[in-house]
Amino acid sequence: MMKKIVAILCAMMLTLTAVSALAADFTTIEAGKLTMSTSPDFPPFENTDDDGNIIGIEPDLIALICEKLGLEPNWLAMDFDSALLAPQTGKADAVVSGVTVREDRKTQFDFTTSYVSIHQAIVCKEDKDITMDNLGEQTIGVQNGTTGQIYAVDDFGEDNVVAYNTYSVAFLALTNDQVDCIVVDDLVGKAYAATIPGLKVVETTYEAEEFAFGVSKGNTALVEAINEVLEGLIADGTVEEIILKHSMN
Ligand code: ARG
Repeated sequence: MMKKIVAILCAMMLTLTAVSALAADFTTIEAGKLTMSTSPDFPPFENTDDDGNIIGIEPDLIALICEKLGLEPNWLAMDFDSALLAPQTGKADAVVSGVTVREDRKTQFDFTTSYVSIHQAIVCKEDKDITMDNLGEQTIGVQNGTTGQIYAVDDFGEDNVVAYNTYSVAFLALTNDQVDCIVVDDLVGKAYAATIPGLKVVETTYEAEEFAFGVSKGNTALVEAINEVLEGLIADGTVEEIILKHSMN
């Protein structure tokens, strides 16, 4: 009986070693580090604190993933459109920046498993009456390179849309009445509306979007290693806990 248990345990350990050996098989552009591009104007997903640290849902998730993979997180802050380019030009291992999984982006990245689902929302001043029905009559602020920009331009044309490099600047423009509203991922719109007085968040009918990390194309071993940890964090409720911790309801 004892021998049988020992044999089973040995077999289990062998399998475990095999799994982690597979995970350890990846390469990163700087050994021992996970280099990630991000646009930290996107609370609660990523933002900078007063000391310049990048904080939020994604840094929390990445900290746990890096710990498991024996990597040190290395964040490169830049505008969103540059952050999307970084893994494609060998400057980052992945873009971790609230990136929506889109068919056309699958030619640019190998996406990890997605970990959250959001909708685009409209943010405007409280006294305005803006909905999907009259969105076309407004001047819409967006961030360059985002799905919000893609939808607004596709639906209402370039002339109605003002694109900013960061959401921080876009929200400043909204406060100063340079735009009538902003189209932005709902949780992010709520986070800005919670800190800037006099703003409200209006739902849209745009389809749900899923966020994932965009790993540089072809680094399959890294995607698999990240997924192994990320899927565990989704399954055991850690991801949900981290999202709730950072979100305003
Ligand atoms: N989810 C949207 C997209 O992928 C917006 C992401 C913007 N991210 C940021 N960190 N500013 O296009």
